[in-house]
This record gives sequence, C-alpha cells and structure tokens, in this order.
Amino acid sequence: MSQRSAFVTGAMGGLGTAICQAFAKDGYKVVAAYHPQFDNRDEWLKEMAAAGFKDFVCVAGDVASLDDCKRMVAEAEAAVGTVDILVNNAGITRDRMFAKLEKDQWDAVISTNLTSLFNMTKQVSAKMAERGWGRIINISSVNGVKGQAGQTNYSAAKAGVIGFTKALSQELATKGVTVNAIAPGYVATKMVMAIREDILKGIVDTVPMKRLAKPEEIGAACSYLASELAGYMTGATLNINGGLHFQ
Ligand code: CAA
Ligand code: NAP
Repeated sequence: MSQRSAFVTGAMGGLGTAICQAFAKDGYKVVAAYHPQFDNRDEWLKEMAAAGFKDFVCVAGDVASLDDCKRMVAEAEAAVGTVDILVNNAGITRDRMFAKLEKDQWDAVISTNLTSLFNMTKQVSAKMAERGWGRIINISSVNGVKGQAGQTNYSAAKAGVIGFTKALSQELATKGVTVNAIAPGYVATKMVMAIREDILKGIVDTVPMKRLAKPEEIGAACSYLASELAGYMTGATLNINGGLHFQ
C-alpha cells in the first residue's frame, strides 16, 4: 500500500496542529491548509521542524470559498498525489446572545463552520469513492450536540456538521469511504482562551473532569478514525468532553 495523504483544514490552529502531528506520527503525508491571513506560517513551520515534523506541505485558502477549496485541493494533489483522508477542522466563533447577534456574525460562522464542509468535501469524496477508500472526519462540538447560550450561530453550524456526517456516511457506505464526526468539549486552544476568564472558569466547573481537553486528546481520535481498523465505523459522532454531556 502506498503512503496515504491527509488534508487538514485549520491546520495551524490548536486542534489542527495536534491532528497534523498525530497523522505525521502515523506515517501519512500531511497537507496543512491554513487561512491566507495567518501571518505566522513560517514560525509555525519552524516550530514543527523543531519538534521533529519537517515534511508538512502547506496550502493557503479560505474554506468558506468554493474556489479556494478547489485550488487548495488541486495544489495538494500536485504535491502529494491523492487526498485519502480529509479533516474538516477549520472553524471560528462569533459569540453573542441572540438578541444582539448580527447577520454578518451568523453568516461568518455558518459559512466557515458548515458551508466549508460542502466546499472541501466536494473536492475529494467522489475520487475517494472511485478509489474505494477514504476517510472524512468532521470536527463538530459539544455545543452542536447540547446547544450553548451565546452560540446560536455556532451551535446551529456544529449540529449541521453532525447531520451532514450522518447523511453522507450513508451515501458512501458501500464505497470504502467512512464519514465521522468528533464533538470535542472545551479544549485548551486560542478559541477557548478567548472566552472571558470568569465565564470560562464557570464552564470548567461544570465539566465533571474539571479540566479542559488537551488538543492531543482530539488528535488521537482523528488518528483512530483514519486508521484501517476504524473501517466499520461510519456516521458516528465521538463525544470527547470530559463527561460534560452525554448524547
Ligand atoms: N444561559 C442563559 N442566559 C445567560 C447565560 C446562559 N448560559 N449566560 C448569560 N446569560 C444571560 C445573562 O444573565 C444576561 O442576562 P441579562 O441581560 O438579563 O442580565 C445576558 O444573557 C447577557 O449575558 P452576558 O453579560 O454574559 O453577555 P455578554 O454580552 O457580556 O457576553 C457572551 C455574551 C459573549 C456570549 C458570553 O456570555 C460568553 O462568552 N459565553 C460563553 C459562550 C461559550 O461557551 N462559548 C464557547 C466558545 S469556545 C467554543 O465554541 C469551542 C467549543 O466548541 C466548545
Ligand atoms: P483555533 O486554534 O482558533 O484554530 C482554528 C483554525 O481555523 C485557525 O488556524 C484558523 O486560522 C482557521 N480558520 C478560521 N477560519 C478559516 C477560514 N475561513 N479558512 C481557513 N481556515 C480558517 O481553534 P481550535 O480550537 O483549534 O478549533 C479547531 C476546530 O475545533 C474548530 O472547528 C472548532 O470549532 C472546533 N472545536 C474546538 C473546540 C475547543 O474547545 N477549542 C471544541 C469543539 C470544537 P486563523 O488563525 O488564521 O484564523
């Protein structure tokens, strides 16, 4: 079997970095897709190299743009051959109580966190099916499962990610392509560190484990879902949330 390739969006963020590292350790070629406005690409690559990860291929684009996704995947294929594993991980928050939520905050979250799944998955799913093997892993959230005040936009998008996962998993079930979601609880990344300190403390107090997740704890789940032996799991949502919520 030739070396498989994994394409990770939001690769230079907290979870994305852990996912790229987990895949590199598993022996995949890794394509790290990042937002063009991310101005620390070189610094990130240096940090990765210092940690022993020297072979990441980088592509830049906005996952909310269909054209950017087409171009990024074409660049990835030119560099690594096929995309065998896709992780739809890029995401943003625009938290606000619904009474004050503006249309642009709704649109930004829906397009980045949900429409991006259409934009990216379209570029790879049919080719995976033709080859008879593929893994699509979508990053949802505990707040897409349970809902969170201040996040009507985000909760709607992340619940949509789960619906997309269940529907597409059925379409691809006989093609050797699995489609699964991960619904992490609160993970120690810059997204969570942006929550006001007192509010975050209150949230952590409600987590039975009384701590945030480590990004590596989500990376390990991606590693499992991408593996050969996860071939019978599809349409599933893995809840990794320290006991915060049971489906
Ligand atoms: N349920 C119901 N009502 C609530 C509430 C809750 N959980 N929290 C606050 N309220 C009410 C308040 O009592 C207040 O009511 P009054 O106006 O009647 O007094 C009103 O909502 C406004 O509350 P705030 O003062 O908190 O409003 P704010 O404008 O300062 O902040 C917010 C709003 C930014 C949404 C803030 O509450 C917040 O950051 N909440 C946390 C949201 C959250 O969990 N985000 C997760 C981000 S990380 C992530 O998303 C990753 C992941 O997947 C887990
Ligand atoms: P993060 O550190 O902020 O990483 C998010 C990454 O997505 C960043 O690298 C960001 O790039 C990128 N991104 C944002 N908008 C983009 C766009 N339009 N096109 C391309 N890339 C874009 O946050 P994270 O915690 O690692 O989040 C990763 C995923 O996990 C998100 O989908 C998030 O919703 C989900 N999640 C996180 C948690 C948590 O507690 N942290 C819990 C559940 C689910 P820039 O930095 O350049 O903007």
